[in-house]
Amino acid sequence: MTIQWFPGHMAKARRQVTEKLKLVDIIFELVDARLPLSSRNPMIDEIINQKPRLVILNKEDMADPQMTKEWIRYFKEQGVEAVSVNSQAGNGLDKMVKAAEGILQEKFDRMRARGMKPRAMRAMIVGIPNVGKSTLINRIAKKNIAKTGNMPGVTKAQQWIKTAKNLELLDTPGILWPKFEDPETGYKLALTGAIKDSILNLQDVAIWGLRYLEDKYSSRLEERYGFKELPDDMAHVFHQIGERRGAISTGGEVDYDKVTDIIIRDVRSGQFGRLTFDITPEKA
Ligand code: G4P
Repeated sequence: MTIQWFPGHMAKARRQVTEKLKLVDIIFELVDARLPLSSRNPMIDEIINQKPRLVILNKEDMADPQMTKEWIRYFKEQGVEAVSVNSQAGNGLDKMVKAAEGILQEKFDRMRARGMKPRAMRAMIVGIPNVGKSTLINRIAKKNIAKTGNMPGVTKAQQWIKTAKNLELLDTPGILWPKFEDPETGYKLALTGAIKDSILNLQDVAIWGLRYLEDKYSSRLEERYGFKELPDDMAHVFHQIGERRGAISTGGEVDYDKVTDIIIRDVRSGQFGRLTFDITPEKA
């Protein structure tokens, strides 16, 4: 299964990121901490072309904290710095700036040695839709309303958000697209709301989610729906969940669509606690 994206749309998104690359010192690649791999664009390395990069695992408040630690370690082992943040609450932003400073230290030391005037780091956020790019930008902008205004050589509309912390951020993020051939990646993206609900069959998404919970978070599945292990007969599972949650008609019919919605809503709203759906390659 491959999601069909308009090639023109894809090329345009890519061009927009490429054009802005030269304006910044570093790329903040935003991913969903619940899907540190599946919410990345697989062509990111090629697109950013050696530009220094910090991977930011956003929505850490929704992800399994132990898995987030493992993912950060995994990225570091791959030679990529990574931090986790909660853009909604504004947690982890200092850590993010510190990590960027670390990555750019040598470059800024070299600039200083050449007698160049010290300036703030310049960064651009990139990521697939829904990973929280606008939330992070707004969070930074809210705290630091003063914008630096236009800079020479930058198109008029381009604004920089100056943070109090030695960082300037382009106010428009680079939008990448998710891409996958593996159906599991699609299910994960759909389950967390990263792709539109109309793209995949939601019942398949809900069933995939239940199976994942059974495999990785069985006590939470049992606590909420009463199954420690799922029987092969999914109709039975839907029936039991429907009964618990009032999605059975008076005639005893299960409303499969309603149950599907319940399962997906429960996952997205954190009713199963903090979940991560990507396993680091060494643990998979
Ligand atoms: P985008 O620009 O990358 O497309 O993403 P955007 O900021 O619009 O965020 C997508 C959704 O993710 C929003 O929820 C946003 O509130 C939520 N979000 C962003 N960062 C975090 C975070 O760190 N933690 C949590 N828990 N959620 C986060 P929404 O449902 O679309 O809107 P709303 O709930 O804010 O109304």
